[in-house]
Amino acid sequence: MPTKASVTPLAERVLDAETRVSQRLADGNELCVEWRGDFENNEINALHAVCFEHPISDYDWAAKLDRFSLGWTCARQSEKLVGFVNVAWDGGVHAFILDTMVDPSLQRHGVARRLITLAIDGSRQAGCDWLHVDFEASLRPFYLESCGFRPTDAGVLPLK
Ligand SMILES: CC(C)(COP(=O)(O)OP(=O)(O)OC[C@H]1O[C@@H](n2cnc3c(N)ncnc32)[C@H](O)[C@@H]1OP(=O)(O)O)[C@@H](O)C(=O)NCCC(=O)NCCS
Repeated sequence: MPTKASVTPLAERVLDAETRVSQRLADGNELCVEWRGDFENNEINALHAVCFEHPISDYDWAAKLDRFSLGWTCARQSEKLVGFVNVAWDGGVHAFILDTMVDPSLQRHGVARRLITLAIDGSRQAGCDWLHVDFEASLRPFYLESCGFRPTDAGVLPLK
């Protein structure tokens, strides 16, 4: 007989966790990085378009993140959203890095590393045991060397 799912305390801890870090970058500008920070859909749509080189969409990020994410990290410089990462969740102990992006004008200043660091902290604080990510080979130095992920075997199957 299937066992009834018990209510996990994870969800409460997830919603409680908020972290904000301000740091000065090498260029002297202040960067504010925040776990579960506020955002407008149009900010993420504009950043996604410039980072992944496609036209701006009107995707409802707030609805998606609210329903499917453990959290996310926003990076702002002078209030402008310059970086973002989404942490999807299986509802248990597995979290998944998606949509890592940094405005091209600020790339290679350590912004994404800071985004991921906060995502790691937030996932750990929420009680997750594993944080997964997959990426193109060119980003191995970023995820493996700079962010500390271990290489592993994984698979992906295109469904379209
Ligand atoms: C990938 C991306 C998020 C990295 O952001 P970033 O802020 O430039 O990364 P960081 O400055 O924190 O990088 C830290 C280190 O990781 C490595 N790294 C970062 N980007 C790299 C790249 N494109 N290729 C190889 N190594 C890279 C470098 O060692 C870098 O240190 P260095 O600049 O002193 O050499 C950014 O290039 C981006 O938004 N790209 C377009 C969207 C994308 O492809 N996202 C990845 C989805 S999996």
